[in-house]
Amino acid sequence: MAEIESLKQENRVFNPPAEFVANAAISGMDAYRALCDEAERDYEGFWSRMARENLAWHKPFTQALDESEAPFYKWFADGELNVSYNCLDRNLENGNADKTAIIFEADGGEVTRLTYRELHAKVCQFANGLKSLGIKKGDRVVIYMPMSVEGVVAMQACARIGATHSVVFGGFSAKSLQERIIDAGAVAVITADEQVRGGKHLPLKAIVDEAIAMGGCEAVKNVVIYQRTGGNINRVEGRDLLMQDVTANQPQTCEPEWVSAEHPLFILYTSGSTGKPKGVQHSSGGYLLWAMLTMKWTFDIKPQDVFWCTADIGWVTGHTYITYGPLAVGATEIIFEGVPTFPNAGRFWDMIARHKATIFYTAPTAIRSLIKASDADANVHPSKYDLSSLRLLGSVGEPINPEAWMWYYRNIGREHCPVVDTFWQTETGGHMITPLPGATPMVPGSCTLPLPGITTAIVDETGNDLPNGQGGILVVKRPWPSMIRTIWNDPERFKKSYFPEELGGKTYLAGDGAVRGKDNGYFTITGRIDDVLNVSGHRMGTMEIESALVANPLVAEAAVVGKPDETTGESICAFVVLKQARPTGEDAKRIAKELRDWVGKEIGPIAKPKELRFGDNLPKTRSGKIMRRLLRVLAKGEEITQDVSTLENPAILDQLKQAQ
Ligand code: PRX
Repeated sequence: MAEIESLKQENRVFNPPAEFVANAAISGMDAYRALCDEAERDYEGFWSRMARENLAWHKPFTQALDESEAPFYKWFADGELNVSYNCLDRNLENGNADKTAIIFEADGGEVTRLTYRELHAKVCQFANGLKSLGIKKGDRVVIYMPMSVEGVVAMQACARIGATHSVVFGGFSAKSLQERIIDAGAVAVITADEQVRGGKHLPLKAIVDEAIAMGGCEAVKNVVIYQRTGGNINRVEGRDLLMQDVTANQPQTCEPEWVSAEHPLFILYTSGSTGKPKGVQHSSGGYLLWAMLTMKWTFDIKPQDVFWCTADIGWVTGHTYITYGPLAVGATEIIFEGVPTFPNAGRFWDMIARHKATIFYTAPTAIRSLIKASDADANVHPSKYDLSSLRLLGSVGEPINPEAWMWYYRNIGREHCPVVDTFWQTETGGHMITPLPGATPMVPGSCTLPLPGITTAIVDETGNDLPNGQGGILVVKRPWPSMIRTIWNDPERFKKSYFPEELGGKTYLAGDGAVRGKDNGYFTITGRIDDVLNVSGHRMGTMEIESALVANPLVAEAAVVGKPDETTGESICAFVVLKQARPTGEDAKRIAKELRDWVGKEIGPIAKPKELRFGDNLPKTRSGKIMRRLLRVLAKGEEITQDVSTLENPAILDQLKQAQ
């Protein structure tokens, strides 16, 4: 441990292994720079070449980038294609028909394998089934499903018929689901009877029923149910149908719906700095292009690879690196249901060994929790497993601390697998800043350099470039193909959130702070600059949690801040003022539990505050503004050294110091 601790300070550089470099898609820094230069010389020409070489177009595009309505940028807009055709049919045509597309492992360990031919047939049958329900191009379909082959089939089937899907993570509550169904104006919901996590059955269909019963979901004509467990469900006559019945007798081919490259492939809700989640709208052509290119560049995908991304399809990582990217490049991929710690904390390593995974992509939170588990139980230590199939590791979703990076590199990659620390966001569609495994010298904790064609920079609040070594705001200077197109139903919020006037209205604001290395120009992400937390790699808006808390009849006021957490990166700490007197002792414990459960119901278990403190008031300025900055210090358990003279009620700080 002492040895690992000492690494925190050092800037050791790890060069990609020579053998990796020799065979890599982008081999060496000169090859990387050549691509960057090509993009800089002729930005549109670069992207046109990429789009022509990588995508199968039904109708070719004539213009790469249309900036006429900036910041509502359009890419390849007069071109037509179909995403599902690109992911499936293309593989049948180019000799991959009998190649394994998906190796699915369920929570209980059962394994299902599907070839591209089989997956294509399943997707076509379900697409025909959806069409038979009257679902057509442009309709929105909400998908609330467990990790399953069927979840991927549902997404691909929507893409095939031109319906825009909106996947809602299975951990979200009925209320969150209802809000998303309403905002998207969904005509159907695809779900499962139950999901299984760590041996436990958890309801999904019952939550859909609850969401629809809350009202406002009248546009939903059908609920389609995949029977995962065969658990009991309520069936509404005429509305609810089993997936197997919708599919039965449908032909195994389905002519794809050709859509404009700009056609919305999906909407994915994510947290922002106000209470209401944002429906991030993605395109078809530009999005798929970047999913493919990053599979080739960042993951160096090769025909013989077995690729495993451990994300859930409810998050963007699952969209780009499970449902679309790997299939579009004809890879074999592993998909898993469950949790990394069941049946024991060796599950990931055991699965890598059994399925001979070659590329493994997971989140720092998972790595940190598995470090702890393997420290506690030698039987699940990675050294007990045959991980020799691995050749590349990836990290995503939150900053990876150098200790975790080193552990991952040594214990999982056995010092011969490059680690790609991929920085990106729901809005960016795919990787933005990441090492290239066969080119970039790696520094633990840094996501290093932007991908070719990606113009990230660090600026001050008025948009001026900052020199290396000086921390500032992370921006992207030019539009790129897989960028967010708009916020569904809220174009004004799109402009304000991502292209603020202060930065000139054409520069993309990522919402993260970052700094570049003095000598190497490497980017290091320093964390969100808005009121967004990152808990276990999941984005949570503090305002969203505050709104949920104040919706409880007991609560007068609430302020939520993030607190650094060894395992989850950040944890949620809520400061609450009740309408009744400040509770203490057992009372405080009971009410804290009640409020935590309440947030679980309002948003989902992932949003439950880890810590809840009660006060008679919150620290406020004389104008009534809550000083969250001070609450962050208190949450960390640190002494306040800042000037508190502007506070209306400095005495309150003492009361809020104590964790209850
Ligand atoms: O703060 C950054 C962090 O996660 C945010 C995006 O979250 P989300 O849209 O949910 O997408 C997660 C999966 C791409 C970013 O604004 N983040 C993501 N990847 C990294 C990261 N922070 C540091 N390093 C990363 N590699």
